[in-house]
Amino acid sequence: ARPHLALTAVGLAVEAVPLARVAVSHGTPTWVYSAAAIHTRYRAMSVALAETGLDARIHYALKANDSLAVVTQLARQGAGADVVSDGERRIARQAGIAPRDIVFSGVGKTEAELRAALADGVGQINVESAEELAMLSAIARGMGVTAKVALRINPDVDAGTHAKITTGLAENKFGIPSTDALALYSHAAALPGIVPVGLAMHIGSQITSLAPFRSAYSLLAALAREVRSAGLPIALLDIGGGLGIPYAGEEVPSASAYAAMVKETLGALGLRLVVEPGRWIVGPAGVLLARVVLQKQGEHRRFVILDAAMNDLIRPSLYDAWHGILPVTPARWRAPLSPADVVGPVCETGDTFASARPLPDLGPGELVAILDAGAYGAVMSSTYNARPLAAAVMVSGTADAVIRPRQSFEAMRAGEVLPPWLGPLLP
Ligand code: LLP
Repeated sequence: ARPHLALTAVGLAVEAVPLARVAVSHGTPTWVYSAAAIHTRYRAMSVALAETGLDARIHYALKANDSLAVVTQLARQGAGADVVSDGERRIARQAGIAPRDIVFSGVGKTEAELRAALADGVGQINVESAEELAMLSAIARGMGVTAKVALRINPDVDAGTHAKITTGLAENKFGIPSTDALALYSHAAALPGIVPVGLAMHIGSQITSLAPFRSAYSLLAALAREVRSAGLPIALLDIGGGLGIPYAGEEVPSASAYAAMVKETLGALGLRLVVEPGRWIVGPAGVLLARVVLQKQGEHRRFVILDAAMNDLIRPSLYDAWHGILPVTPARWRAPLSPADVVGPVCETGDTFASARPLPDLGPGELVAILDAGAYGAVMSSTYNARPLAAAVMVSGTADAVIRPRQSFEAMRAGEVLPPWLGPLLP
């Protein structure tokens, strides 16, 4: 499942670059991404969709990993973008993605963000409420432009994933109830400054079964037919992202199985499809390389304390997510295992990467890789505990390049000033 990772005589390597070398050249903690893995996975998804004969386009969801290097590589491979903020839109544009190939999603786009997207000529804006539709119409009319809109429908389908990343239940903040879809679509068609072009859906993330997609897409097909029968124009369906990856060796549907299901549920409509994968493309392509600060024997547990923490990779703390952890040194792959808690130095018990994980003895200075950290890793980092953002490195074959230098203390604190009533800092 991770062909870009190799167990070599000089230790764990990403493609042909030993992680021990990365640690020496660039320090730790460091995100390490495989260009080949990203390339291969994007291609696999795009081939799987093309082989079904569907007119489908991948709009990479930048939120999974918005590194300029990652987005630029995907743009060169032909990806469009799914963005959720003005910042992401600007990154997509810097990476060379044309405005018409950008979809602007999100439940709370501000007036300034909508204005900027319209001024840029963004190809599709996914609207999530009647209120937002009215706001967008007023802005577009004021600017003398037309917004191409897809209405995001909330299908009220349980994606069977973690509650915090479920988005398609009626109780969630996202989308428009399916019962309101037709009326709002026809209202949109009559609004100045708005051209409705389609319907959109996204039911959640890290979905490991096709069943929830199948029920959501069947509903989407039925709604598209209703729109058509009402004589309203419809050109596309945006089917969101959400396909999961195996973090712990679990069975997940392949890209071809996903594509076949898309064809089965939506193929007959002959509409253009927009697909918004994030995690599936970049998740398995990255590791977080960290060094053991020390190993500590607690009263009940053994703790392996790393120089990476929850401020770097928050997924285990936030979602109880499971990430594989591999020692980098070959001698450790054959050493006896015993349970250990792998933790960071942040002052919270939640700063735990793994609990009771079978691991070898790991002494100070040893390297470990936290696997499948390419999606929702670096993008969710913070500087909590005044810990500067980690470096990021991209590997291609035997080459490695820094794509984001480790943040300096000065850069981390840039812009901090005292209010005038405190006077100057004392020497
Ligand atoms: N499209 C929309 C409208 C989305 O909200 C998302 C993700 C995607 C596409 C991409 O979904 P993906 O293919 O990556 O599953 N931070 C969480 C995941 C949050 C996902 C939010 N929306 C995590 O670390 O698991």
